[in-house]
Amino acid sequence: MLGPVLLAASRSDRMRQIVAAAPVTRPVVQRFIAGDELGPAMDTVRALTASGLQVTLDHLGEDVTDRATAHATRDAYLRLLETLAAAGLGERAEVSVKLSAFGQSLPDGGHDIALEGVRQVAELATASGTTVTLDMEDHTTVDSTLAVLHELRRDHPGTGAVLQSYLFRTEDDARALAVAGSRVRLVKGAYKEPANVAFQDRKDVDRSYVRALRTLFAGDGYPMVGSHDPRMIAIAQELAARHHRAADTYEFQMLYGIRTAEQRRLAEAGQRVRVYVPYGADWYGYFMRRLAERPANLAFFLRSFVPA
Ligand code: FDA
Repeated sequence: MLGPVLLAASRSDRMRQIVAAAPVTRPVVQRFIAGDELGPAMDTVRALTASGLQVTLDHLGEDVTDRATAHATRDAYLRLLETLAAAGLGERAEVSVKLSAFGQSLPDGGHDIALEGVRQVAELATASGTTVTLDMEDHTTVDSTLAVLHELRRDHPGTGAVLQSYLFRTEDDARALAVAGSRVRLVKGAYKEPANVAFQDRKDVDRSYVRALRTLFAGDGYPMVGSHDPRMIAIAQELAARHHRAADTYEFQMLYGIRTAEQRRLAEAGQRVRVYVPYGADWYGYFMRRLAERPANLAFFLRSFVPA
């Protein structure tokens, strides 16, 4: 019940001001966000990679409404890639981008503005020996994001994308992307979507996830299993065995701060595991989606308002 309310709040400027101003917010936010600045985030990246995990870094931000902010996003990613390369982490750390932070929804050429920005990021990523994955946002952006993926893969074939199993279209998209060299992160989906484009029942979302997993594991691409759900992880492992996939032909991905013991357990068992590490001051939308996913997170957050 509360999930849709929180997802609506994740796009409210008024709620953003209230939540961000509350002093008790910070410790709860820190569970999911690796810091407001790149410095602390790099400490997290070093610790994770030293323990055998890989990472994908997200410089937080979304829904930018002017070109200057879109350019600032691009510059933040260029700085991030330079920092990763200087730290010798290019092989273990890649970046995840939200095209809305690169200007995708700007009127008058938003798609092209985002493409040009992310192209520069992909060029530096390739030169540094790493990759970019395009996060997926609400359903209105999927065609544009997949078109950007298509463009980028011409010169940067390692560019990855995200498919969301709650969308009806995802089975078709998974089939189209299950091709050699194609990196696809499959997730359930984190936005509030209408019933004419997306499954509303969790069981249907799960069934769709399994169908897309089957397609991706049977294909020639590189599946990235973006889920904390033990059932989805077990099914992915069965599919990997059934298709005789070597451990370096797919990977598991989980979010920073969620099921960390399971991340380590899988890695110690010889699986490739990548942790999605968000950092930056614009954490509100990301944080609210994490609260919406799990009532226990919301209860923890609300309890922090009660004086001890
Ligand atoms: P599910 O929600 O069923 O959770 C299964 C179990 O995982 C829970 O029982 C709980 O133990 C744990 N869990 C899940 N969420 C939790 C939380 N917030 N806090 C604490 N425990 C939690 N979405 C999107 O729309 N676009 C995107 O680009 C991405 N990118 C992305 C990258 C990566 C690496 C991951 C793992 C996820 C995303 N997502 C995403 C988010 C995704 O769509 C989805 O909302 C969450 O992963 C939760 O779904 P699960 O598959 O984990 O299952």
